[in-house]
Amino acid sequence: MKSLKPPPMKKLFVKTYGCQMNAYDSARIADLLAPLGYGAATGPEEADMVVLNTCHIREKAAEKVYSELGTLRALKQDKKDMLVAVAGCVAQAEGELMLKRAPVIDLLVGPQSYHRLPEMIAKISRAGGKALQTDFPALEKFDALPQAQTSGVSAFLTVQEGCDKFCTFCVVPYTRGPEHSRAPEALLAEAKALVDGGAREIVLLGQNVNAYRGHDANGKIWSLARLCEALARIERLARIRYTTSHPRDMTADLIDAHRDNEKLMPFLHLPVQSGSDTVLAAMNRQHRAEDYLRTIERIRDARPDIALSSDFIVGFPGESDADFEATMELVRQVKFAQTFSFKYSKRPGTPAAAAQKQISEKVKDERLQALQRLLLEQQDAFNDAQLGQTLEVLFEKPGREAGQLVGRSPWLHPVHAKADASMIGRLGKVRVERRTANSLKGALV
Ligand code: SAH
Ligand code: SF4
Ligand code: F3S
Repeated sequence: MKSLKPPPMKKLFVKTYGCQMNAYDSARIADLLAPLGYGAATGPEEADMVVLNTCHIREKAAEKVYSELGTLRALKQDKKDMLVAVAGCVAQAEGELMLKRAPVIDLLVGPQSYHRLPEMIAKISRAGGKALQTDFPALEKFDALPQAQTSGVSAFLTVQEGCDKFCTFCVVPYTRGPEHSRAPEALLAEAKALVDGGAREIVLLGQNVNAYRGHDANGKIWSLARLCEALARIERLARIRYTTSHPRDMTADLIDAHRDNEKLMPFLHLPVQSGSDTVLAAMNRQHRAEDYLRTIERIRDARPDIALSSDFIVGFPGESDADFEATMELVRQVKFAQTFSFKYSKRPGTPAAAAQKQISEKVKDERLQALQRLLLEQQDAFNDAQLGQTLEVLFEKPGREAGQLVGRSPWLHPVHAKADASMIGRLGKVRVERRTANSLKGALV
């Protein structure tokens, strides 16, 4: 056999913004560049290449990238050979404009074309200049990527990408392109590789993960529930989670899976955004508050101990006091375990950005505070209810204190307990003794 000379060692630093799908993509970018000789750098200072994997969801997220690019520009004065790449949703949304605004960028790739980074790097090292790729060849991306190589105890697996829903506030349909589900065979193979690499939990990712409809080689369509069923047969896989779901796609078979599939964890992130039917309609969410409440009821019937989570937007254009109160009322009815809430942020190119009745920053602030106060009360109540309970914890890594490990409860709480390092990657029962704002502490029983 011909022996391959290893390429010279170079260092890569990937900085990730935004959602879990970006985290997954960042890991894949590292896998993709490893054969080119890139190993992990601890920071941009020691890196030969820096990738910013960006998020465009709210104005603040998008603006952060430009301040980081400013820092990199200064750094590049002394490190002329350092490559600066921008990937992710800001790259997709701004394209050429971004290259003009930040000339420090050498490479720009959208979320559906980052598999082309190696050829782009080769091109600019040969010919100089810049390289830009913002097509949506979704069908080829996953085929072109190498098998996932690294895995923690909990691993992400993108099963579905893109969005066809076009909520009027949201950039995702424009940055991630149309909905596309990966084939079940490829996902099962990737899941097995992740488990072989040490994963005991897999978190299935999609912008609308419960809209997953994968076509297998026989032309049969698989739902997310069916995919979870097949994944559950991987013996050493202990836990399955999925995120983010849309209320409209919470189908009966998926709800049943929460009753029947023991590996499917009792935690569901099901964003509702608002409790007002007027606002929901203006957002193009395609359901009413009542539909959401009924869905929650059915999920709780199937799996009484399920914990619910949601995203909320306050101050959507036209949101009245009564609309906001409807959101508060929905929250009181559901009782959420954990949530994310945001002030509406105007995004270029989205229909809501052009709406007449924009809400003032002051009102947005007041509503966000009131909502977060209520949500925090619910989160505290949920966490208090864990005190004295014995929870099954999947240990993931060493904790901050010596001899301590951190893992996750079925409901995603970080749980700290004294345990031997051999427990990493294993399930243990922990009796909860104390809690901090977000995490639990206890003793292994
Ligand atoms: N696909 C998911 C959400 C993905 S974006 C869903 O349909 O629920 C993640 C969250 O960001 C959204 O749930 C929403 O709450 C928030 N978000 C999206 N666009 C926003 C905007 N323009 N302003 C404020 N928050 C926004
Ligand atoms: Fe954005 Fe709506 Fe699609 Fe979610 S469903 S990604 S909020 S457009
Ligand atoms: Fe942000 Fe793109 Fe995810 S806009 S939230 S990184 S899909």
